[in-house]
Amino acid sequence: MVFRKALAIMMLLAAFSCRHSENHPGWAYMPDMAYSEAYETYTENPNFADSITQQMPVEGTVPAGIIPYQYKRTFEDQVRAGLDLTNPLDVNETDISTGKLQYDIYCALCHGISGGGDGNLYTGNLFTAKPRALNDNYVKDKPDGEIFHVITLGSLSGLMGPHGAQISPENRWKIILYIRNNFKESL
Ligand code: HEC
Repeated sequence: MVFRKALAIMMLLAAFSCRHSENHPGWAYMPDMAYSEAYETYTENPNFADSITQQMPVEGTVPAGIIPYQYKRTFEDQVRAGLDLTNPLDVNETDISTGKLQYDIYCALCHGISGGGDGNLYTGNLFTAKPRALNDNYVKDKPDGEIFHVITLGSLSGLMGPHGAQISPENRWKIILYIRNNFKESL
């Protein structure tokens, strides 16, 4: 009998303790950091002069994993890049085939699929400056670093634009590997 009464009281307690109330969210025991008092990213913020929580990075900030390019688009810097920079990749099929993919996407439209300077943009009169043939002695004699420099910042005359924002440094080297190992014939 006593046992049954105790059971009934426990069941009642259980039922009421879980009662859902819109106005009372219940008690949290030691909530610690459950409720953040920080400002949300896009909210106003009285602590800054411009009242914006998300501030610009400090001037000169460099994103993690990015090494800023050290050279300018000048003749001297192009020559210097040619002396300083060497292809970190050894000749291997995997990188050469990635280089071909990248070349076909970014360079072939001007320089041609086989590097003859006869890409569709030029032959179709959509781009009037003659792209340099990449399989002649002029380019063969250029150090890898200069080609890297031209891909990154564009040509000195500005007729070829910079590709540093589209092509990762690693893929630039792969393109160079591809050019060196496939565009060997002199015209
Ligand atoms: C929009 C057309 C265009 C695209 C795309 C283009 N180039 Fe060029 N490229 C040119 C022209 C035009 C020249 C000659 C410009 C000059 O002499 O100033 C040139 C010159 C070059 C030179 C010779 C630079 C020198 O110092 O004389 C190299 C090497 C080169 N391009 C490689 C590439 C590679 C690699 C790509 C792909 C990542 C590429 N180009 C994409 C148009 C293009």
